[in-house]
Amino acid sequence: MSERKMEAAAVATAPIGGGMRREPSYASMAEQDDFDLSRLLDKPKLNIERQRSFDDRSMSEFSIGGNLKVGMDGYDPVYSPGIRSGFDTPLSSVRNSFDPHPIVAEAWEALRRSVVYFKGQPVGTIAAYDHASEEVLNYDQVFVRDFVPSALAFLMNGEYDIVKFFLLKTLLLQGWEKKIDRFKLGEGVMPASFKVLHDPNRDVDTIAADFGESAIGRVAPVDSGFWWIILLRAYTKSTGDTSLADTAECQKGIRLILSLCLSEGFDTFPTLLCADGCCMIDRRMGVYGYPIEIQALFFMALKSALSMLKHDAQGKELIERIVTRLQALSYHMRSYFWLDFQQLNDIYRFKTEEYSHTAVNKFNVIPDSIPDWVFDFMPCKGGYFIGNVSPARMDFRWFALGNCVAILSSLATPEQSVAIMDLIEERWEELIGDMPLKICYPAIENHEWRIVTGCDPKNTRWSYHNGGSWPVLIWLLTAASIKVGRPQIARRAVDLAESRLLKDGFPEYYDGKLGRYVGKQARKFQTWSIAGYLVAKMLLEDPSHLGMISLEEDRAMKPLLKRCSSWT
Ligand code: GLC
Repeated sequence: MSERKMEAAAVATAPIGGGMRREPSYASMAEQDDFDLSRLLDKPKLNIERQRSFDDRSMSEFSIGGNLKVGMDGYDPVYSPGIRSGFDTPLSSVRNSFDPHPIVAEAWEALRRSVVYFKGQPVGTIAAYDHASEEVLNYDQVFVRDFVPSALAFLMNGEYDIVKFFLLKTLLLQGWEKKIDRFKLGEGVMPASFKVLHDPNRDVDTIAADFGESAIGRVAPVDSGFWWIILLRAYTKSTGDTSLADTAECQKGIRLILSLCLSEGFDTFPTLLCADGCCMIDRRMGVYGYPIEIQALFFMALKSALSMLKHDAQGKELIERIVTRLQALSYHMRSYFWLDFQQLNDIYRFKTEEYSHTAVNKFNVIPDSIPDWVFDFMPCKGGYFIGNVSPARMDFRWFALGNCVAILSSLATPEQSVAIMDLIEERWEELIGDMPLKICYPAIENHEWRIVTGCDPKNTRWSYHNGGSWPVLIWLLTAASIKVGRPQIARRAVDLAESRLLKDGFPEYYDGKLGRYVGKQARKFQTWSIAGYLVAKMLLEDPSHLGMISLEEDRAMKPLLKRCSSWT
């Protein structure tokens, strides 16, 4: 058996384990799916050499507010020669332009160990390859959100197939009938995760997928579909091959995902109403309502879809709805989610119980609900998108993923992007600490923890989702800081991560106010911690990769707001 096949078998036959899990109810459906993925790719392939991932745009386009300065701050951009030196050799470790840290080779090896194969084809990476951990739960599955940094690492290294097969495999899973008890989920829902099961007797691989019906808490992953669209764009940008995105199947996949979000209902806001735990923070943490993570990903997915949808009859109609929604969404987010010193002061002085169109305090936020910590936390220079806004409820917590994605997608104006980076620098100890970076800030404690998390022992203060530090987020910080022209922020963070990650066995998360302790229940060799580090390294090494996961601001959306004075 080849080494790859043996790995595949090892992964596929790993015990499912874990008391909380049960066999998904679709095992029989999995068999129907048991055919060659490339069947979907019958279309003639474009024979295009890898394009520069930022479409030959000049580096100056990555600058914001005139303070770019790639090449300054001791930062010398190095351009990828675009030459591939053998499939399995990470380009990043063979270039001598950038000091290859010994972790890089180890990280690539660990990343490759996590690859999952379906009928011999690589289709994803498992969440964690932690043999020491007794409780497997679902960490032996391919999570859609977890695969994104792996996919970016592979794309940056010129390894496209695994990403293509992943996109196609998950697209097939989207086609399954999804039910929780007797309730049917929307057609467009993408799985949170899937697992390849290998039957050694019949030598067949089958797939079991989880759309939320097995997940702890039974929440459907709203972010999966968005990440899928964002990754499809990254693949297209990186390879220059539009034939995958152009297939009828991919076009339909995009339409189904977005139809779920663009349907009309009782909403009075353009943001997307969500249940708690429907994203990276996949358990109760008080992120229900309109969480920033989902809104930023929604915006990015809408913009990514615009660049890929065909202008045929079905596409055209959707494109119109997307454009309208994007305008409303960016106005809403830039106005009501944005918080800086001035805005905070304005909210602090709000009158309440205003009625009619002339209301300044539109959501009737009671100033007494502003938590004490935010007055100290808010620097004079800087700002951020807060966690949530709904009637009489503003969640002032900082969330890293949503803010970084807001920069990458250009949901944040150039001024806001700069302000987010200012805030990170001003509050370095709180947000980055000893191990980049905090998933959210601050932690909730005591009575509030009891009420908000439902007494969740995994989410105690400064642990896991409740103010824990997640190495995976470093790729997002790096991409965002390069986009804003401040790569030195990423450099500093990467240096910190490098001093511990390998020694600690690439943990899933760290605990403590400064993130100094390996997380209480953190898995080791967590794949997205490994891949997140590699992506950060490759982005710093070759900033042209940024084009895969960065979208420029639309001219049509520019004139909206200079600074956020929309409360008046
Ligand atoms: C945890 C994380 C989730 C991740 C999963 C697999 O549940 O909260 O975001 O996808 O682990 O790593």
